[in-house]
Amino acid sequence: MNTIITYFITRVKLIIHYYVPLLFYKRKLLASLYYALFSRSFDREHQAVLEGKIKHIRNTFRHKSNYYLLIRNIHRIEKGLLMRPRKELFARKYISETMDSFETICRTIKEEDNEQIQWFEDVLEMYFEVVGSDDLIDRERTRFKSVRESIRSERRKKKKHTPYQRLTDERPPVSYDALYALSRQRRSVRWFTEKRVNKDLIDQCIAVAAQSPSACNRQPFTFHIIDDQKLLKEVVNLPMGTQGYSHNIPVFIVVVGNLDAYFDERDRHLIYIDASLASMSFMLALETLGMSSCPINWADIEVREKKLQKALKLRNDQRPVMCMAVGYPDPEGMVASSQKKSLERLRIYHSSDFTCSETAPLTEGAPSSGTASRSEGSPFSETTSPSEGAPSSESASRFEGTPSAGNTSASKQ
Ligand SMILES: Cc1cc2nc3c(=O)[nH]c(=O)nc-3n(C[C@H](O)[C@H](O)[C@H](O)COP(=O)(O)O)c2cc1C
Repeated sequence: MNTIITYFITRVKLIIHYYVPLLFYKRKLLASLYYALFSRSFDREHQAVLEGKIKHIRNTFRHKSNYYLLIRNIHRIEKGLLMRPRKELFARKYISETMDSFETICRTIKEEDNEQIQWFEDVLEMYFEVVGSDDLIDRERTRFKSVRESIRSERRKKKKHTPYQRLTDERPPVSYDALYALSRQRRSVRWFTEKRVNKDLIDQCIAVAAQSPSACNRQPFTFHIIDDQKLLKEVVNLPMGTQGYSHNIPVFIVVVGNLDAYFDERDRHLIYIDASLASMSFMLALETLGMSSCPINWADIEVREKKLQKALKLRNDQRPVMCMAVGYPDPEGMVASSQKKSLERLRIYHSSDFTCSETAPLTEGAPSSGTASRSEGSPFSETTSPSEGAPSSESASRFEGTPSAGNTSASKQ
């Protein structure tokens, strides 16, 4: 009897998940019809994207105060400034909306040490200095001067946040081998000690994550860091992938993406890309400070998402991108060896022009993971001057201190 029921269930599942979609997958319109009629899987995403879009547009036109739009446009202006050759007139199409948000945000945000606002101001100042003249630009130039006069005394500073030449003769303070060793040391760790995680150290890692690239520099994400025991218990089992080890996770992080960063559906994937790039840097930074992590999948399951949304007080246009377990690794706990794919499987060169070092063992892939020794060299250590460690701290001098080193200014010559 059981076998018949199992057979029947399997057939029904096959019909729902395979044979019905088979009728709809060949045309975009049919595919949309399928998701309208037979599957609600994208409902929440649709609503979140739409709500984010509405919020973005409302902030731009009604409130004239859109922080994401301002970042994006300042970024576009910086690109205009560094263009070779630089155009005489540029950013005309969006300078008014940029000034709208700049003006409102300058007048309302009270963070005196917000370097991003200084960046907005410095870039606009340079823009109006170099851009040519026409009615619209001249009007906005006058407006900029007046806004700046009114905010100047509070925000006057020495350093300029404008395009600059990055390269000096110095090498970066981390060698390839050191970076490779760090990447190799980072493994998904699921067993942690009871040692409490220090908030300042987490902040140091977030400072590293903040340096990651993001589309138009919008950084459309926030790290929610949970070590409050009650809240932690409430959320730690919501992603299904923590089964079996959730009880020993000291800190649980949810990386949340903000869909109000975009006016257009075409950009809806950027929260996932940008948040993931930052998360990777964050995880590497943890390792340098003696902590470890395990990224955890956030499956798109509405009922679970609603629970997490309630627990973290998220808006509808905010979506969890991924979760993370963080803590001090238990030396007695094991990690999976997770051997990585060979280079051949990971890359396809579409050119025969790339130069290739004669001795580089390109076909070897990473060293064998038998012992996963932290000191193992990279597959290229023969060819990347293995004797060179990280440069001395003097040679790292052009890299300004980290925020925790008592210096919160961005790296600049
Ligand atoms: C997006 C993503 C989702 C993951 N989800 C889970 C998860 O739900 N549970 C878990 O224990 N590990 C999870 N992992 C960890 C992976 O299993 C792990 O990264 C992979 O096996 C490679 O091992 P390594 O991280 O040690 O190199 C996830 C990793 C990523 C990047």
